[in-house]
Amino acid sequence: MTTDYEIFRNKRVLITGDTGFKGSWLAYWLHHLGAKVYGFALPPERDCDHFTALNLEKLIHHHNGDVREYSQVRDFMKKIQPEFVFHLAAQPLVRKSYNEPKLTFDTNVGGSVNIFEGARVTPSIKALIMITSDKCYKNKEWCWGYRENDELGGKDPYSASKAAAELVYSAYRDSFFNGRTHLGAASVRAGNVIGGGDWSTDRIVPDCIRALENNKPIELRNPHATRPWQHVMEPLSGYLHLASRIYENPKQFSGSYNFGPEGREMHTVHDLAEELVAAWGSGKIKITKHDGNLHEAGLLHLNCDKAHHELNWYPKWGFKKTVEQTAKWYKSVKEGESARSITKQQIIEYMES
Ligand SMILES: NC(=O)c1ccc[n+]([C@@H]2O[C@H](COP(=O)([O-])OP(=O)(O)OC[C@H]3O[C@@H](n4cnc5c(N)ncnc54)[C@H](O)[C@@H]3O)[C@@H](O)[C@H]2O)c1
Repeated sequence: MTTDYEIFRNKRVLITGDTGFKGSWLAYWLHHLGAKVYGFALPPERDCDHFTALNLEKLIHHHNGDVREYSQVRDFMKKIQPEFVFHLAAQPLVRKSYNEPKLTFDTNVGGSVNIFEGARVTPSIKALIMITSDKCYKNKEWCWGYRENDELGGKDPYSASKAAAELVYSAYRDSFFNGRTHLGAASVRAGNVIGGGDWSTDRIVPDCIRALENNKPIELRNPHATRPWQHVMEPLSGYLHLASRIYENPKQFSGSYNFGPEGREMHTVHDLAEELVAAWGSGKIKITKHDGNLHEAGLLHLNCDKAHHELNWYPKWGFKKTVEQTAKWYKSVKEGESARSITKQQIIEYMES
């Protein structure tokens, strides 16, 4: 796979959700590639967040803003005239979506409408990448990987909001963007990503790292659930690759794409915790009672043939390497290395692998 990373040099790139886990990796990566990066998001939630640990505010042009407010989105796009837009801002947690369904729909559906509406009146945009989720597919608990043309749906508010955001995307693409010669828009669906710098609540890796750092057992509620774990840089490389293709050929590459690990790389929550303990060098695992009230998909994986064939995109790191790199990030920072230095090393290693 040859991603034309050079294409981003000196380009104006807007990332929504740059204060979040994936957005901060993407913002730093694009900064490293020489892009002029503009971020639009709520302020970081914690002092330890990757955005803050990287001191990204000093490297990119970040703006505190709310995607639920159309005028803020429109005015920011108008001001910066981006050529690329990566829309990641969202309420991304399934559990939180049960507690705050309205917030989840307002942010993930209403916020996406505002981004598309802003893009509609911002002619500088050439490539727009809308980040949804593997959970946008109607989960049939079957063993096959979901393809881009499979049915959308979602039982929990988060999954439903991502499926709805997909419909919003396709309506804007077909009704407005297809008619603009120099604009291409895609939606991208990836699974559970892991990597350094994620401190979200209710996510397996941050929960494990908090336990390991405090010499407490890792508590697993749902040890047998399988997930398409991948390092955060895997889907991000897919988004960058796709955006570069769209920039060169907007119509050919507009559409939806899955980015996930190889089909055989299906591992359980328990496998992940075990591998993390091994990479950390110590730690214990304890199985706790499953919280049966909340529905969360047990079996879900993506078919990525479209990304392989059309984009020549393939994941680079297997499960073991992914977990090792993740543990290494947290351990290095705990031992005093700067987050910026370890993130940069890992980005370079990924690009060269
Ligand atoms: N992390 C994963 O495993 C995963 C898996 C599939 C899809 N995704 C998707 O990737 C994207 C990024 O996820 P993440 O893990 O980095 O989440 P995160 O919670 O770390 O970051 C979310 C970002 O969205 C911003 N945001 C939330 N509400 C906002 C609002 N009203 N206005 C402006 N900004 C707002 C936050 O400030 C933050 O920058 C999301 O769209 C998520 O649904 C993530």
